[in-house]
Amino acid sequence: NCSLNTTTNHLRHVESMAVLPSGAGKIPRLNAVILGEALASEEDDLVFPSDDFARQALLPSAQKYLEMYKRSVEDPAGFWSDIASQFLWKSKWGDTVCSENFDIRNGNVYVQWFKGGITNICYNCLDRNVDSGNGDKIAFHWEGNERGFHDSLTYTQLLSQVCQVANYLRDIGVKKGDAVVIYLPMLMELPIAMLACARIGAVHSVVFAGFSADSLAQRIMDCKPKVVLTCNAVKRGSKVIHLKDIVDAALSESAKNGISSAVLHIAYSFGILTYKKTPLVSKDVVPTYSTICEVEWVDAEDPLFLLYTSGSTGKPKGVLHTTGGYMVYTATTFKYAFDYKPSDIYWCTADCGWITGHSYVTYGPLLNGATVVIYEGAPNYPDPGRCWDIVDKFKVTIFYTAPTLVRSLMRDGDAYVTRYSRKSLRVLGSVGEPINPSAWRWFFNVVGDSRCPISDTWWQTETGGFMIAPLPGAWPQKPGSATFPFFGVQPVIVDEKGVEIEGECSGYLCVKSSWPGTFRTLYGDHERYETTYFKPFPGYYFSGDGCSRDKDGYYWLTGRVDDVINVSGHRIGTAEVESALVSHPQCAEAAVVGVEHEVKGQGIYAFVTLVDGIPYSEELRRNLITTVRNQIGPFAAPDRIHWAPGLPKTRSGKIMRRILRKIASRQLDELGDTSTLADPGVVDQLIALADC
Ligand code: PRX
Repeated sequence: NCSLNTTTNHLRHVESMAVLPSGAGKIPRLNAVILGEALASEEDDLVFPSDDFARQALLPSAQKYLEMYKRSVEDPAGFWSDIASQFLWKSKWGDTVCSENFDIRNGNVYVQWFKGGITNICYNCLDRNVDSGNGDKIAFHWEGNERGFHDSLTYTQLLSQVCQVANYLRDIGVKKGDAVVIYLPMLMELPIAMLACARIGAVHSVVFAGFSADSLAQRIMDCKPKVVLTCNAVKRGSKVIHLKDIVDAALSESAKNGISSAVLHIAYSFGILTYKKTPLVSKDVVPTYSTICEVEWVDAEDPLFLLYTSGSTGKPKGVLHTTGGYMVYTATTFKYAFDYKPSDIYWCTADCGWITGHSYVTYGPLLNGATVVIYEGAPNYPDPGRCWDIVDKFKVTIFYTAPTLVRSLMRDGDAYVTRYSRKSLRVLGSVGEPINPSAWRWFFNVVGDSRCPISDTWWQTETGGFMIAPLPGAWPQKPGSATFPFFGVQPVIVDEKGVEIEGECSGYLCVKSSWPGTFRTLYGDHERYETTYFKPFPGYYFSGDGCSRDKDGYYWLTGRVDDVINVSGHRIGTAEVESALVSHPQCAEAAVVGVEHEVKGQGIYAFVTLVDGIPYSEELRRNLITTVRNQIGPFAAPDRIHWAPGLPKTRSGKIMRRILRKIASRQLDELGDTSTLADPGVVDQLIALADC
């Protein structure tokens, strides 16, 4: 039993939902228990915040949430401009706080927040904190892969280092609006490089350093950066990865395609690792630059960064975020969803190569003046107790991670957790995929000693920040539910015809009208932006996720409904894996589906047909997996290759993935109607080969 304040009695539903005047949003339906007006029965799976927690919480009650939520949807301009005013603006935005067209039927989709407002997010993250007397506060604690290697930077020191890199970038010709690709591991220099770009108005595009040379080249060719920043090598667990070699390979690949603007200018190798003789510009050149760097003041709608993510076709999408709205949104979501206090020590295990590392390692926490822990290595290196060792070492109070890590540590046993104190912890967080209730309970009971609320935050690269997330202290939680929408977010669940469904239901998760952190376009392809996100259900932003809402109004995410799979919280397009597989000369066709995986959430299951006359062999299986590792990255390697003499196709040639999913998950009695297949015999062949 993981309920903190388990109380008795039964639920009495209070129809507290207020339907607002047309155009405005609906207020979530909260029942009496959640409003604190009735007592819950034990069988209701509600986990209450302790009285101690609620007393000190930023949002101590559901009523307070409802009050703020109501204002945020009835008067979004007033709500968000009050918050935005707490930041430094060189000049304020015009009369229109938000202007948008979210309805494709009314013409092109666009979103603008705080247009005309002039600011700089790096200034707001660093200078503003230093100026307000927090210069000596630790901004980053860095923990290296190897125990015993660590470092810290105060806000003043971080600002100096960011200024040096910014001056260096300016000196080598990087200007406002130029793209800069960053391919670095989790060193402090990664967020330093991001902040340096932001300081001079350059648009950073961080590529996760687990991506292969091919994937890096693809992204370089799309955004044509002036500079690629990298380091010589990194040690992940016990493995050394030579990043500089990967960048060299990517640059020569993109040069073949006529992109010559990308020049490798920085080789960072901070402190510990110098496996190869690479000129270390960071050591020799960057420190010679001034620690003062004038800020490039930019418009709120000027681009801040591009981040590539997977879609349902092979080509990655360059999600573009702008400055002002993103700044206000990441800061606010961070503050409320983690109940942030200035005394907190915050650790998010995400890599800056993903959106979580942008919004909740770098911008959100620094905008709040937080102390952030950054860990370079693998969370189970050298043993599965490493995370709790780090928690105790830095006295971490807020710990934010992914369900895949929770499940993997849970499998390793409680002893690795309980041998550490963890008493500093007060809030836990989860992101990236649905967290199954058993992993939620283990996280809550064992890691958090049944005293730390869990913020299960649903959001996406595209949303910039949290969309549906518990506000710890405000209401009871349900293990596995992301709970209720954040301020200003109006989620709707629609049926396959795009009709909004009310009350308790399941369907496709969409969002009505914009929030400040909304992405503005896909880089260089506004049409794809509209087609992917706004055309499927006109009038709404379509998330690509399935969702249900229960009788108490809680939202439960059920996973992707498109051809995207979520492996250990990494979003992978099935088409990307398929195109890597068919690039192998002996592979004729490939169809990839996701299957349930105990630790990773979803695993990658690939059906392949071979070129005529080629026999399937163990060696070929291994080669196919290597091909995917080399073309995308190790994290996209298929868990299972299923050799298929043919794939189930309709008469018009469309692969029936529904059938493949059932075969992959061995739900053979749920294959459904196979009579529309061009050759129904294919299915029996596939089943016969399933365990080869
Ligand atoms: O399917 C949802 C899942 O991750 C997708 C977004 O992936 P990405 O853009 O890479 O961003 C990951 C970090 C925000 C979503 O479409 N997802 C993310 N968080 C959750 C989640 N699914 C369920 N619960 C979550 N808390």
